[in-house]
Amino acid sequence: MDPLDPPSIPAPIAQAQGLVKRYDGRTVVDHIDLTVQPGECFGLLGPNGAGKTTTLRMLLGLTPPDEGALSVLGEPIPERAREARRRLGIVPQFDTLDPDFTVRENLHTYADYFGLKGRARRQRVEDLLRFASLESRRDAPISALSGGMKRRLTLARALINQPELVVLDEPTTGLDPQARHHIWQCLRGLLKSGTALILTTHYMEEAERLCDRLAIIDRGRVVAQDSPQSLIRTHIEPHVLELDGPTAMAWLDAQTGDLPARLWRMGDLALLYTLQAAPLTAALEQAGIRYLHRPANLEDVFMKLTGHELRD
Ligand SMILES: Nc1ncnc2c1ncn2[C@@H]1O[C@H](COP(=O)(O)OP(=O)(O)OP(=O)(O)O)[C@@H](O)[C@H]1O
Ligand SMILES: [Mg+2]
Repeated sequence: MDPLDPPSIPAPIAQAQGLVKRYDGRTVVDHIDLTVQPGECFGLLGPNGAGKTTTLRMLLGLTPPDEGALSVLGEPIPERAREARRRLGIVPQFDTLDPDFTVRENLHTYADYFGLKGRARRQRVEDLLRFASLESRRDAPISALSGGMKRRLTLARALINQPELVVLDEPTTGLDPQARHHIWQCLRGLLKSGTALILTTHYMEEAERLCDRLAIIDRGRVVAQDSPQSLIRTHIEPHVLELDGPTAMAWLDAQTGDLPARLWRMGDLALLYTLQAAPLTAALEQAGIRYLHRPANLEDVFMKLTGHELRD
């Protein structure tokens, strides 16, 4: 390579520019710009109805946008959505497993769709059963699976075609902590092998653990887009003191001067966001008030940016 050549920038694996979707005259996705790089895990966070699923459906070519430009795996969407979909995997928000088939038959049907035959098909299905820890349930009907098993099977099904990108809409909603950890383990394995992921989630811990970058969406707009750590650094004070119960609330009400913190309060719970915790913790200890001191996290950023009332 000529040393004077600029370093090559990898083409994004998915990109949306000025994406708009309206339903019945109501704008539900409002000029969204997103760029997802190869191999990264990109998260979409947002309250219910923020437009996450609609955005994913447009990326997948399942819903046409009203405005904007989209490309996925180098293909213009929706024009070449079919070609793009052959190279990606989809885990929809609600499971669409075939209840008339067993675990293995569900995978076989997908393998057939992607043209896998004979030994190659058998091998791929066995590999995926192992990946999803479902070997012992291979002949079970779908109705006999737990929620976590169904989600793992849906993920395994999405991987039949060895996709370069997997799009997951709330992969762990409704699962218990063990089942959630199991899915995270599977997703980390995919990331390690270079597969890019786009996922939506309501679990801030999930986003913080898995995502390299994420976009917070509210009312169809991107309100922030960055790595979880940068979002926390940029948008929120580093220390949080949590107070709860009537004694702590009475102490708060009795504070006459300006608190050296931003206060968010709901009923008997108060969160104090501050640059320096020491003056507050000293005052609380002197007054004998119990508190929890923790670092700010993504949930704090989410609550602030998606419109929780905060009193300065
Ligand atoms: N086919 C449709 N027809 C009319 N309105 C729709 C349609 N699909 C979605 N909407 C509306 O668009 C908005 C965004 O919905 P969307 O499903 O994208 O939200 P979401 O962020 O995925 O929410 P959730 O977290 O609840 O899954 C909602 O107000 C929803 O009611
Ligand atoms: Mg949704």
